[in-house]
Amino acid sequence: MMKNYSGLIIDINNILENYRTIKNQVGASAIIAVVKADAYGHGMEAVVTALEKEKEKPLMYAVAKLSEALSLRECFPDIRILLFEPLRAENVEAISKAGLVGTIATEESNDIKNLVACIHDKIKVHVKVNTGMNRLGVQWNSCVALFGQLRQYPNLIVDGIYTHLADSDNADSTYTEMQIDRFNTCLNDLKDAGISPGLIHAANSGGIWFHPRAHYQAVRPGISLYGYYPSHLKSAVALKPGMQLRSFIESIRTVEPDESVSYAKLYMSSCKMRVATIPLGYADGIPRNLSNKLQVIVGDKLFSQIGRITMDRIIIEIGEEPVKIGDEVILLGRTGDLTVDAWDWSDNLQTIPYEITCSLNSKRMAKFYKI
Ligand SMILES: Cc1ncc(COP(=O)(O)O)c(C=O)c1O
Repeated sequence: MMKNYSGLIIDINNILENYRTIKNQVGASAIIAVVKADAYGHGMEAVVTALEKEKEKPLMYAVAKLSEALSLRECFPDIRILLFEPLRAENVEAISKAGLVGTIATEESNDIKNLVACIHDKIKVHVKVNTGMNRLGVQWNSCVALFGQLRQYPNLIVDGIYTHLADSDNADSTYTEMQIDRFNTCLNDLKDAGISPGLIHAANSGGIWFHPRAHYQAVRPGISLYGYYPSHLKSAVALKPGMQLRSFIESIRTVEPDESVSYAKLYMSSCKMRVATIPLGYADGIPRNLSNKLQVIVGDKLFSQIGRITMDRIIIEIGEEPVKIGDEVILLGRTGDLTVDAWDWSDNLQTIPYEITCSLNSKRMAKFYKI
């Protein structure tokens, strides 16, 4: 790696290992790899390129927005792409042209009629069923009526059915069990009506690890591909973070007592002290709310970041340690027995690793792929 590198290191091998670990967990179920939000900040194109070289590659890839699906299609003409976003009349032509699989999330006959009126070619869809997430989807007990409607339109090819689990990473599994029961009722109702809904899928990462009943014919891992459990609830299986953040010591100075270090006197020096700057800040995606709370690794020691995180830099206290300009700094990653991972940041911010990895993928942040 370049000297004085400052940016993300995406460990493609760790992502592939996580993929194989997930495959192992779900046995015969296929994988729909969730690569929305630029693969949760890891780089959609690089992640899909790597997964496509696997012997048992994903059955499909899923993204949230049409723009993401179209970029993916540009790079990969042959992969199957599921678009989570509900099908809208203005998107139908683009979806059909790009050969994407859309999502039907409405049971309103007028909406469906309007959609179908815009379809000139055939279009494949999966039906999204609401079993308890209450964000999108057709109500679990009205699927038979919906499939009855959809049958009238030969241009609309129903190729799958899915639901999304709202609480699958909770040690109390009651809510998820209820969602799975509702989904099973919906599937049984369709079966009784002689309707075959195509590919059946439900499990996000929480469903994959904690709810084998939700594995069905395919699963949709997101965060666990990138090396994290969705919450602090963990199984025995180890996952490996796909993202590290590294930088270097840019400058060192001695600060007199009673001085403000960084903006607004958030940190005042209590004695004469040595501090060092690191050229990454909130414009690169380090949350400003971690000010005075971040820990970084230099050499074989942890150091505390002090004062406000600024747009372009953070400052650490280095005491009498032999830290030099140009030394490597690990903000997320591990060396020896020391580790800082996205949970260390998330716990301080009352958030989850999803938000950390997505926001570090800022326009200005460099990305280096370790293959
Ligand atoms: C519909 C759907 N399926 C699967 C996933 C993947 O979830 P996770 O990252 O928790 O594995 C998401 C992510 O939010 C989603 O929206």
